Amino acid sequence: MNPREWQDPRYLQKGREDARAYFIAYDTMQQALEGDRHQSGRYQLLNGEWDFKYYPAYYEMDEEIDFTDKIPVPSNWQMHGYDRPAYVNVNYPHPVDLPWVPDENPCGVYRRFFEIEDLEKEIYLIFDGVNSCFYVSINGEEIGYSQGSHCMSEFCITPYLKKGKNEILVKVLKWCDGSYIEDQDFFRLSGIFRDVYLLHRTKQHVRDVMLHVDETSLTAQVQMCAGAKESELCAYLYDGTNLLEKAALVDGTVHFEPKQVKLWNAEQPYLYTLVLAGCEEFIPFRVGFRSVRTSKKGELLINGVSVKLKGVNHHDTNPTKGHVMDEEDIKTDLYRMKQLNINCIRTSHYPPSPQFLEMCDVLGFYVVDEADVECHGMTTRNCTWAYECFHEEWPGQNPDWEEAMLERAVRMVERDKNFSSIIIWSMGNESGYGKHFETMCRWTKNKDVSRLVHYELASHAGNPDCIDVESGMYWHLSDLEKEGQKESERPFFLCEYSHAMGNGPGDLHDYMEVYKKYPRLIGGCIWEWADHVVVSKEGHYLYGGDSQEVLHDHNFCVDGLVFADRTLKAGSLEAKAVYQSLEAELLAWDQDKVQIRVTNGFDFVSLASYHLDWEVELDGSVIANGMIKSELAAKDSAVFDLPVSLPQICHLGCHVNLSLKKDCVDLWEGAGYEVAALQLTVDLVKQVGQTCEEQRTWHVLEEKNEIRVVDEQNNGYIFHKVRGCLCGVLKEGFNLLEEPVQISVWRAPTDNDRHIKNQWGLFDGNNAGWNWNHLMDKCYEMHWEETEMGIEVRSKGALAGIARWPAAWYTVIYQVDRSGTLHVRTKADINPHPSVPWLPRFGFEFKVPYAMESMEYYGMGPYENYRDLCHHTRIGRFQSLASREYVPYVKPQEHGNHGKVNYLIVKDEKSAQGICFWTDKEMECQVLHHTKEELSTKKHAFELEEKGTNIRIDYKMSGIGSGSCGPQLMEAYQLKEKEIIFNFNMKIL
Ligand code: GAL
Ligand code: MG
Repeated sequence: MNPREWQDPRYLQKGREDARAYFIAYDTMQQALEGDRHQSGRYQLLNGEWDFKYYPAYYEMDEEIDFTDKIPVPSNWQMHGYDRPAYVNVNYPHPVDLPWVPDENPCGVYRRFFEIEDLEKEIYLIFDGVNSCFYVSINGEEIGYSQGSHCMSEFCITPYLKKGKNEILVKVLKWCDGSYIEDQDFFRLSGIFRDVYLLHRTKQHVRDVMLHVDETSLTAQVQMCAGAKESELCAYLYDGTNLLEKAALVDGTVHFEPKQVKLWNAEQPYLYTLVLAGCEEFIPFRVGFRSVRTSKKGELLINGVSVKLKGVNHHDTNPTKGHVMDEEDIKTDLYRMKQLNINCIRTSHYPPSPQFLEMCDVLGFYVVDEADVECHGMTTRNCTWAYECFHEEWPGQNPDWEEAMLERAVRMVERDKNFSSIIIWSMGNESGYGKHFETMCRWTKNKDVSRLVHYELASHAGNPDCIDVESGMYWHLSDLEKEGQKESERPFFLCEYSHAMGNGPGDLHDYMEVYKKYPRLIGGCIWEWADHVVVSKEGHYLYGGDSQEVLHDHNFCVDGLVFADRTLKAGSLEAKAVYQSLEAELLAWDQDKVQIRVTNGFDFVSLASYHLDWEVELDGSVIANGMIKSELAAKDSAVFDLPVSLPQICHLGCHVNLSLKKDCVDLWEGAGYEVAALQLTVDLVKQVGQTCEEQRTWHVLEEKNEIRVVDEQNNGYIFHKVRGCLCGVLKEGFNLLEEPVQISVWRAPTDNDRHIKNQWGLFDGNNAGWNWNHLMDKCYEMHWEETEMGIEVRSKGALAGIARWPAAWYTVIYQVDRSGTLHVRTKADINPHPSVPWLPRFGFEFKVPYAMESMEYYGMGPYENYRDLCHHTRIGRFQSLASREYVPYVKPQEHGNHGKVNYLIVKDEKSAQGICFWTDKEMECQVLHHTKEELSTKKHAFELEEKGTNIRIDYKMSGIGSGSCGPQLMEAYQLKEKEIIFNFNMKIL
């Protein structure tokens, strides 16, 4: 172990085998066909408890190590009490002085023993992932070194073994020169974090195999180890357990053209098995017949069919295990993705474990496999933010780093070249651009003509010819449109878009519409799959800064489409809805039917194994339903009549709800799983208005500060004369309001509001805000009069942030009619100054007792929704509870909104006390046990405390977008009207 070695970018390995395809050899044909590596006598997994010794600095290591501790392999030592997890995004967590890393370089030493009976075999030791570099000793002799955290490292250890008990010792360093090209945005974690195993190979064996597959044929190119003869090999092609053909190798190759091939695609991932038998070994490969091409228009063609990538970026992350993902974890993720209609995965930003790719082949995903390369921290090394092309300081250009860069591509492509699911090779992420990228691309294209090559930042160098797929990140939709309009044979791919941080993303639907519009826009991958967090002993979710990091990026790692425990949020369901493969439109309706057109949005499958449930809902009740069974082919449409007797008018609304369900069971979902849902509106004439209600006599009592409008039983309303607001809602003398009603514009900033919030509010002393989180409601005047309708109380005032000119001037007219209904009529003029940003929201807030937590509404539900984040919901009548409306965003923020609400009843189930709110138009509502103030200021979900019930009756709520990393919220979803007219009514139950 020599510090010069791990700080020398040209020193990459010692004793490591050349990269080769991942495969496992078996003892029998049957085992090979079953493909369960744990059953192979040639495979010996070394995972488990290892002896462990941790040194905070490598130079403190003892000559004789006394192994006092145990640690599981695979694991990250920071998740087991050694060192601490540290989250940094762009910056390097150490000075930028390539290739030097800190002298205080922690080292973990691992030891275990294993038995070897048969010394006749060639024994290879394989590491699937070790962060960041490591030395291997066998029986006291240092025999190998490797780096490249997410690459496979293989050592032939036969010469160092003895019969019986053998010792393996691995010294792992936290940092090495390789860390400069592994600056991915994640918790920085160290150790042996993927499988370690032995392969007991026959001396004469297959070294490497490359499969060339298209829609009709399969060619395997086999390379034998030195001295081995290919003539001993025979290749067998199986369909399941059915042998289709067998053939001997000629000149190292074998070729098959089976009849009536069933093709592989992400919707129907049909796999055959090729087994290479000979030299006492059986080596299986799962083979999907498919082709990947591009069209003249720049479309992505899978088997000749133009496909859109409905993707997500996947990192290996687990709240308790760090970067360790076992097969169950992988299944959980991939099954969840299938359930959410995701068809593409970018393995950001390194190759995943081979088991991940095996599952992608089986389940059906289009995979963008990415090399373990990121140098993002180079952009900030001089205290600026700049990507540079062809700059010698960057590893992508500096000659000392050529081999290091190239081998990342080589080791990825060599290991993964036989996985059918991979359609695109990505050369890495955020590493500037230099000539080594060209070398990597050229090597890759030369090696594998059957797939496409991508590297996002090649765009900075004008996308040279070695790039097959142009790409970008977080583009504004208008730029994307322009890109779509360009004529080019090269597809354009958004390798990252719709930053899913916190409550969001809100713009998925808009992106999808643009992808659909232009052939050369082949889709994109949402950033990113799951929240990265670390769980504390108390079970709390922690992020950057919670482990006393000197430098960190707060909660920017908590940006998943699903929560860290893989439970779903509104954004997850939104992705499912936007990515679904069903379209429908309402063509016509009359008194006895509704006519709809349904389009099968799949690329390959018909609807034969699905059924479409439909129902017609009138004013929140189902009045007809049925089921459509159709064999509609992929991308085809058909018209259906739904029998229903429709009235002339409705009161709340009339809708057709469609639900496409799977008939059969899949690995990831049971039969009957809803894969798509849509709602169509039947535009019946709406009759709104009052039912005849009991008329009562109302009295006005003026007191010192209050105006009371009450009936004989002391039911009614109290207004505050000075503050100009409603401050009491009386039920037989009991005031249901815990605080006066507020008019406000604030919402607890979402993560996606992280930029605009500094214009909205006062944070950390920023000077550019309108300070609406410190809003004063000034009443200019309030008076009352008796009118024909009843009692009318008028209030005029202004809302202004501290130190700022008012945001809004308002007039509110409160009318108590003779039935006791309070009609609230609001007119607000918003400050027209050009520097006033769009408003978070505008509306009224009511605070009532905790027990008033049961809610019923007619509007968009059942999940929270916002104008741009609502495709996963439908309009209907829903019941909920304030506590159920809570969404555990790791960093607290705005949530729980419902749009297009017609009425909302909030009540205490026990006492039946409550309030009904309604409108003739639409309003937006929220019922929560948390206030916007609490959600604005607390840093973690575990700090929240439920208090009272907070009801929000809003004119409008701005959308969500994905501005945490993406473009600012689209104008269409911003509340930027300068005159607001908002009327709603309320009544005590
Ligand atoms: C991208 C980057 C990702 C991640 C994301 C922000 O620029 O490629 O790795 O950092 O931004 O969450
Ligand atoms: Mg980065």
